[in-house]
Amino acid sequence: MKIGSTEHRDTFCRHFMQTYTPYDPTTLPWPELDAAALQRLKSVPFWEEVFYTERRAGAIVKAFTDTVSDPVLKQAIELQGFEEARHAELIRVMIDKYGIDAAERPLEDVSDNIETRFKDFGFGECMDSFLGFGVFKIAMQSEFLPREMFAIFETLMYEETRHIVFFVNWMAYSQARKGFLARVALPLTSFRYYMRALGRLAGTARRGAAVNDGKEFSATQASVFLDGFTFRRFLEDCYSENRRRMGGFDPELLRPSFLPQLAETALSAMRLWSFRKPAPA
Ligand SMILES: [Fe+2]
Ligand SMILES: [Fe+2]
Repeated sequence: MKIGSTEHRDTFCRHFMQTYTPYDPTTLPWPELDAAALQRLKSVPFWEEVFYTERRAGAIVKAFTDTVSDPVLKQAIELQGFEEARHAELIRVMIDKYGIDAAERPLEDVSDNIETRFKDFGFGECMDSFLGFGVFKIAMQSEFLPREMFAIFETLMYEETRHIVFFVNWMAYSQARKGFLARVALPLTSFRYYMRALGRLAGTARRGAAVNDGKEFSATQASVFLDGFTFRRFLEDCYSENRRRMGGFDPELLRPSFLPQLAETALSAMRLWSFRKPAPA
């Protein structure tokens, strides 16, 4: 299948439309939490940020949809916008149900440079999802919350995986349609967007650390998560979870490759390093 062909467009859009899951956030099987689990849920320091990010995602994707003229792409991107808005709704329902302290910050205006915003958002999702896969696995293994809660978040994770697969295909398709130069420049263009995403992620982490100052996510809560945590294990989890989740997608589709490749290189280097390191005396 030629990237940029009508067949390519139809394949990634059809796949996206066919894998849609209908659900209503208000009627999901939200579990009753005991005091300890409720405390752990409330102690997570980033619900306000997640709530804001999902609302902003819905607004960006919706605004971008209005600028797309190709009816096949438009229908798929519109569905993504709907799903992002539903993620925000899901987080809102959770905040209300469990009494989580997370304010609804006013949304920024997202109307200008909407295509660049959509791309920034897409590459940001690729980065967040790759790291999120690892965090999700560690949280689940450590039974940070009851299984029923993870089952709800699993739906959300699956949708984000669909979003990034759709996005990298849309990106390659649109670049290919712009001509030879845009097509060969795609790796470089992607790299530039990934660096921007990394910059924003670092900014968010800094702001988060300043706001929370380690107070809310207390040492006890964090230790549930972080017992035995090493960067290498985290990277291994991100990498293997990415592989597992991507394995469920049609092999004809492109999938995000930058971060998995980077992680693979880093992990090989770490393995080599620990192999060469002399054993402690
Ligand atoms: Fe989302
Ligand atoms: Fe998404």
